[in-house]
Amino acid sequence: MRCLWMRAIFLFMTTTLSFGSKRDEWWKNTIVYQIYPRSFMDSDGDGVGDLAGITSCLEYFNDIGVGTIWLNPVYKSPMADFGYDVADFKDIDHIFGTMADFDELISKAHQLGLKLLMDFVPNHTSDQHRWFVESRKSKNSTNQYKDYYVWEDPKQDCSDPPHQCIPNNWVSVFGGSVWEWVQERQQFYLHQFLKEQPDLNYANPQVQAEMDDTLRFWLTKGVDGLRMDATRHIYENDKLEDEPLNPDYTDSVPGEHAQYQSLLHTKTVDLPKVYDVTYHWREILDEFSDNPDWPGYPSRLMVVEVYNSHKALLPYYGTSDRRGADFPFNFGLVYLNKENMSGIKIQELVNAWMEDLPPGKWPNWVTGNHDRPRIADRVGITYTRAFNVLNLLLPGTPTSYYGEEIAMGNIWVAFNKTQDPFAINNPNHWENYTRDPERSPMQWDRSHHAGFSTTTGDTWLPVNQNYLSGVNVADQMADNTSTLALYMKLAALRKEQPAFQTNHLKYVIVTENIFSFLRMPDTPGLESFLVIINAGTSNSTDDYSAALKKKMMITEDNSGIVVVSSNMDRNGKPQGICNVHVAAGEAIVIRISVYVINSEPAPSLSPCLILATMLAIIFSGIVFRYQCT
Ligand code: GLC
Ligand code: MG
Repeated sequence: MRCLWMRAIFLFMTTTLSFGSKRDEWWKNTIVYQIYPRSFMDSDGDGVGDLAGITSCLEYFNDIGVGTIWLNPVYKSPMADFGYDVADFKDIDHIFGTMADFDELISKAHQLGLKLLMDFVPNHTSDQHRWFVESRKSKNSTNQYKDYYVWEDPKQDCSDPPHQCIPNNWVSVFGGSVWEWVQERQQFYLHQFLKEQPDLNYANPQVQAEMDDTLRFWLTKGVDGLRMDATRHIYENDKLEDEPLNPDYTDSVPGEHAQYQSLLHTKTVDLPKVYDVTYHWREILDEFSDNPDWPGYPSRLMVVEVYNSHKALLPYYGTSDRRGADFPFNFGLVYLNKENMSGIKIQELVNAWMEDLPPGKWPNWVTGNHDRPRIADRVGITYTRAFNVLNLLLPGTPTSYYGEEIAMGNIWVAFNKTQDPFAINNPNHWENYTRDPERSPMQWDRSHHAGFSTTTGDTWLPVNQNYLSGVNVADQMADNTSTLALYMKLAALRKEQPAFQTNHLKYVIVTENIFSFLRMPDTPGLESFLVIINAGTSNSTDDYSAALKKKMMITEDNSGIVVVSSNMDRNGKPQGICNVHVAAGEAIVIRISVYVINSEPAPSLSPCLILATMLAIIFSGIVFRYQCT
């Protein structure tokens, strides 16, 4: 009875609120799933994944409860950086298929109710892009592309041959100088990544207009949002001042390429103008958002990729008068590893983001991607399930890297088989840099190549052999205790429970082992959830009743029901909260009714909510017990 009352009040309130708000912020209640297209599903048997392969798997996302997919670049590319070197922003690379395949993918995705995000690569093109092929020819004013890239003369007062007189000390992210000499032009061009990835010149309004046009091209095709690649690198200091040395850097390998970490990047990243570009992109996305010409595409999501301290990321959200990205990726959790994992460390990382979140802005979490080792290798296989619990149940939008839902692990690739240019460019440190291990093919079933490809030859990167021992979708679908079964349960919980659709977060017990938090709905009386993660190396038994009481919260009868446990072996069991035992690496979610006994943690105390709370208490006839027995 009480539940019915409360649900009715909740429904009334949410409907009223959503009529009042203009934007349909669908991305708040979705899971973003990152697909590395070369590695997801190969439809034509060439050993490399493609668009038709992805289209053939779209139902999978409905099955597992994922609402949004993000594709790493599929544009025409010579693949020096596997698609991040774009040769034509408005074409699909033949390895991935055709534009018709893309149209088919987006149309089927939308039919299935899925949103599709593209990667947008604004900082650089491929050196094979028509603009660069033209630009490198001459600096004559008749060359319409002459200023599309960042060209510089050799440094003055330099007695060496011109091609050795590099303009300054800047180092590329992938190793070596950012400057590359072009004989025809007798000038250097700048590349913050590979030399095959020349940086575009954003001081040139024509370049900005071309990129705006690219955005409009994909938005017109109906993409639901974009992830802006390497955004912080768009501008460099005009005076080309040297970057200061990093006092903390020691290069253990003499003669190695100059390392990116050897300098402090005060002149090449996060220049204030970058923020303006972001706000400008927002305006373009908004031309296609909430627009009556675009029924069915209510609001386009913009995410920026910037690796920096969380404080430095905040301006990407926007200012008081200009909106920016819906969120910059929050990579905090990616920095958890075997050495630093603990309940306290997780809280520190979570809290850093939540505490500084600008008012009205939405949090997000990333636990891995195509540039970082997989969770199983970073923090250990014991914690992969708990990591999915954390990612999916913290407040905000989670991004899941493909394969994490079945706990895929890194592969090992020998140097002579290595594909990633980041490793090849840094031969003495290659194992620190290679990104091949986390890019291995998706493991679908127990058939040859894990069902990823029908090729009789090799796949572009080897398949992790653990697909034969349960790390594949088919086996895990058939096992209701699998990591995938857990993922599906968590995704369903997020979708069904109002408590997971707010951004309220209350820490409960946080120790070396335990990170635990409470998720509460906006409306008091609806179910709350206590999420307990044991990130330590020993089991823990703790009194959550006492911990809640310290935070001025009490529960009905000091007990609840386990709605999901990471090992899927406690689901549905009653659970007293005075002594909760959680094994090392385990996570459990307990449904409880929590009442706030002062105003401090209450999300909102409108008269309506006070009335709702009173009604809840009256109808439930609750007898509060303040002590554990
Ligand atoms: C981003 C991508 C990375 C790529 C780089 C250059 O950091 O995530 O994979 O190599 O940009 O485009
Ligand atoms: Mg293929």
